[in-house]
Amino acid sequence: MVNAVELSEVSVQLGNVLALDAVSVTFEQGARVGVVGPNGAGKTTLANVVSGYYHPSEGRVIVHGTDVTRAVPARIAQLGVGRSLQSVGRVQGITALQFVALGLETRWPVGLVHTVLGTPAGRRAERWARAEAMSLLEEMDLARYAQVALEDCPYGVRKYVDVLRTLVGLARVIVLDEPTSGLSEDERSEMHDFLARWTSESPTTLLLIDHDVGFVRGLCSRSVALDAGKLVAAGATDEVLTDPRVIRCFTG
Ligand SMILES: Nc1ncnc2c1ncn2[C@@H]1O[C@H](COP(=O)(O)OP(=O)(O)O)[C@@H](O)[C@H]1O
Ligand SMILES: [Mg+2]
Repeated sequence: MVNAVELSEVSVQLGNVLALDAVSVTFEQGARVGVVGPNGAGKTTLANVVSGYYHPSEGRVIVHGTDVTRAVPARIAQLGVGRSLQSVGRVQGITALQFVALGLETRWPVGLVHTVLGTPAGRRAERWARAEAMSLLEEMDLARYAQVALEDCPYGVRKYVDVLRTLVGLARVIVLDEPTSGLSEDERSEMHDFLARWTSESPTTLLLIDHDVGFVRGLCSRSVALDAGKLVAAGATDEVLTDPRVIRCFTG
């Protein structure tokens, strides 16, 4: 099996916190892997390391065979890693439609320079992205929010729009950071069904970060558990989630 992502002995020091502590873990290509752990376990830090927002203080990160330990986020995105944001509430000054269209950048039919220079090809590409983003919002029954600034959309809509932005790029590796945090029970179950549909149709590798183990259980056959920056368990989801060491770190 080819590895989509490999972390080898990765440590990340943030201020005086060791947010990841010598974590070695591999994510196989095409696998749907849950990343679970209590608050502060290092889950978002792992997402940040895989997408290049943080660089490890020790260890190596490999994406599809390429060492990206020191790579910037744009380079890692080019290599086919897309990620959603845990704190989508901070995104401002962009409409829901524009935000989804941003996710299409990796599928842009012409070089971005055409868009920047406003050439006819660039304008056509922009129209394509807008139309594509609009039809996706329609499919999700979110078309009425297309022209609404993201900060003015209801919280649940913002989460959906961000997940959509992440998925539409058709990245080879998708990292979703707490797609259900702050969602109601109904929204959570809608998100579950949406991701289940999407994963059944897509060959993408999925790293699904969530502290809701029930949500992970429904979508991921493999899981890894983190606690206080350390890898506690990795393997089949059922085994990881029933591992007494994992249960202990959730119950404190
Ligand atoms: N920018 C930062 N500066 C200092 N410490 C941080 C920073 N970001 C996260 N941390 C700390 O690193 C640890 C792991 O955080 P995080 O990866 O966000 O955990 P999780 O996503 O599992 O809740 C926590 O103790 C958190 O307080
Ligand atoms: Mg987090």
